[in-house]
Amino acid sequence: MGARADRSVLLVVCGGIAAYKALELIRRLRENGIRVRTVLTEGGARFVTPLSLQALSGERVFSDLFSLTDESEMGHIALSRSSDLIVVCPATADILARMSAGLADDLATTVLLATDTPVLAAPAMNARMWQHPATQANIATLAARGVAFVGPETGLMACNEHGPGRLAEPDSILAAILARLDGAQPLAGRRALVTAGPTHEPIDPVRYLANRSSGTQGYAIARALAAAGADVTLVSGPTTLPDPQGVHIVRVETARAMLAACMQALPCDIAVCTAAVADWHVDEAPQKIKKTAGQPPPALRLVPNPDILATLSQPSPARPRLVVGFAAETEHVVEHATAKRLRKGCDWIVANDVSPESGIMGGAENEIDLIDAAGCTHWPRLDKTQVAQRLVARITAFFNAPHVDGHTP
Ligand code: C5P
Repeated sequence: MGARADRSVLLVVCGGIAAYKALELIRRLRENGIRVRTVLTEGGARFVTPLSLQALSGERVFSDLFSLTDESEMGHIALSRSSDLIVVCPATADILARMSAGLADDLATTVLLATDTPVLAAPAMNARMWQHPATQANIATLAARGVAFVGPETGLMACNEHGPGRLAEPDSILAAILARLDGAQPLAGRRALVTAGPTHEPIDPVRYLANRSSGTQGYAIARALAAAGADVTLVSGPTTLPDPQGVHIVRVETARAMLAACMQALPCDIAVCTAAVADWHVDEAPQKIKKTAGQPPPALRLVPNPDILATLSQPSPARPRLVVGFAAETEHVVEHATAKRLRKGCDWIVANDVSPESGIMGGAENEIDLIDAAGCTHWPRLDKTQVAQRLVARITAFFNAPHVDGHTP
């Protein structure tokens, strides 16, 4: 796919010692035929001059929220929507905090609050500031809202300290910008495993135990992960759904076969277990069980099935970086699901209320609570496809957010 000729970036330059690298970034963006307009914060202007930015970008520089000339030519709302991508570089601890809080007390934050354009931030700050729980909480909030990050890198910093917090190199920032402008898929290169549907547990060669799971939610998640560029293996119990396109599907019947197929699909980065796995299988009769006149009906002996989610969640070098389970509950949904997350050892639990009055089981919609180590987030009632897309957005944010050691997972 050829790159569009009219790509444009709004670059927000904040006040950090790394601001001079924004000049190099502008030069590199222009070399790639990308139009660059700049918003310079008050702090940023202490490190680079509007004249340098203007000379390199060939465009006027915006800095004043209340400027009459700026407003008459291009208001801050129009400015916030005038580009394909907003790049905050360097993104200081201060602007990340103000973005996270939703402040709008200067042109940069006003533009960032008013926009629906994707935002990429390149953090740069002292290592202690980066590692501070306040900064980490702000990063997590912004990532969950869809802000993408590049860097920071670990190394020696201007303040002579060593650690995470160095601005990513202009080349890396340029690559991250090009990937977004040219429609790269955010989970490209990631491997994902999804389980879906019910399991069938044979009683004898012609009969089985089953449940009413349709597989709809799991198939939607597999499709959404594939649309985001992940390499997806869907291990599905028996369903009537067609194979989703662009997904490697393995069809199984029993829980034991589902576990074996999941282990075959490792290693992977993401596992999402939506399957309604039977808790037991039957001590199977080798031949069809016969009715015998005058005999009492046969008793079924149930044997526990392996727990696939718990097995995938066990600490091991092959453990997926992110394991997501589902919890269908009929009462005390959040309380039970929170306990289940700990019991199973998974990272997130998607909990839903499957009491008959909710109409969720077998329906097209779902209303969920997402539980992670930080707590619980309630989502409104959504179509199962939208639930899948929203979950994949959270997964993307998880993989895009730089972690406290300065590395993305
Ligand atoms: O234990 P419970 O069935 O309530 O847990 C639900 C979660 O555990 C779901 O994510 C389901 O896919 C997973 N699970 C599993 N293997 C089992 C039982 C449940 O992967 N044997």
